[in-house]
Amino acid sequence: MGDKIKRIGVLTSGGDAPGMNAAVRAVVRTAVGQGIECVGIRRGWSGLINSDFVPLTGNSVSRIINRGGTMLYTARSLEFMEEEGRKKALATCKLLGLDGIVAIGGDGTFRGALAISRQAGKDGMNLRVVGIPATIDNDIGCSHYTIGFDSACNTAIECIDKLRDTMQSHERCSVVEVMGRHAGNLALYVGLAVGATSVLIPERPVDFENDVVENIRRARLAGTTHYMVVVAEGAGSVYDIAAQIKDSLGIDPRVTVLGHIQRGGAPSARDRETASRMGYTAVQALVADKGNRIVVSKDGRIRDLDMEEALAETKEFQMERYDILEALTNNGMSRFR
Ligand code: F6P
Repeated sequence: MGDKIKRIGVLTSGGDAPGMNAAVRAVVRTAVGQGIECVGIRRGWSGLINSDFVPLTGNSVSRIINRGGTMLYTARSLEFMEEEGRKKALATCKLLGLDGIVAIGGDGTFRGALAISRQAGKDGMNLRVVGIPATIDNDIGCSHYTIGFDSACNTAIECIDKLRDTMQSHERCSVVEVMGRHAGNLALYVGLAVGATSVLIPERPVDFENDVVENIRRARLAGTTHYMVVVAEGAGSVYDIAAQIKDSLGIDPRVTVLGHIQRGGAPSARDRETASRMGYTAVQALVADKGNRIVVSKDGRIRDLDMEEALAETKEFQMERYDILEALTNNGMSRFR
């Protein structure tokens, strides 16, 4: 067993996600409840490099559980990816007397967490680092769920439902880009939930004729006069797809890029609840002297795993959602079946 944990730092890094504040709150309240002091590190890993911090009490995190964004600000730090940057960050940990860090974020945040925990080990420092997955992309291999995904889905669905109203009135085709970086989780989930005509995702090679043109034709033959094509940002340019639709079918689609609106707004019930459980679990891991862990959600259970092992895991893409989408799109509607 190492020394008892006295003081920890908490930070949010990478793209923000609804529910990050709820996770910060859970970390702070759990820690304070066990006599551990908390320091908020602002602007992600760069805050550790630049000694940019704010002491946090249980009161400092009041009334943030319902707020989108992150009260600690966030950033992506290139300097932290260099050994020199990490050494400066460790110097800050030493100066502030931090025994542990809870890092809330996605893929890049976890690469940072792994790098600093290795660096600390090399430098003979006992710094325990725990990661909490929060990204609207839901693309972390070791966790079935990441904080923010559900809220982002709900925001995208609300926007697309509104788009559908006007597309229906004007009998138009809508081509909508949703976020997700290199992953199609958000697009597929949202596409299924809005009853999209087609969904294009990076995990599945696009067969434009079959997946888009024929789907629109089938919808038209079944009597539909508006169409919703949902495109993951990693699956190609929405403008090119709209132009191809115009060339192939002679209809003039309208393009909408939902963009950063998907990252804002109040966190959903699922995100608040998951963030609260994950924040609590992260501090319990530190209290049990389990450094270098990642908190994950697997089959509805929140657990902490060894960081190195967890980050080596890859997530199998749930392609059955695509099969379900295909089974439901236009089926049973066609006059020709
Ligand atoms: O990782 C979250 C995410 O919103 C991705 O979906 C998107 O590709 C990226 O961040 C956008 O990053 P930025 O905020 O730097 O434009």
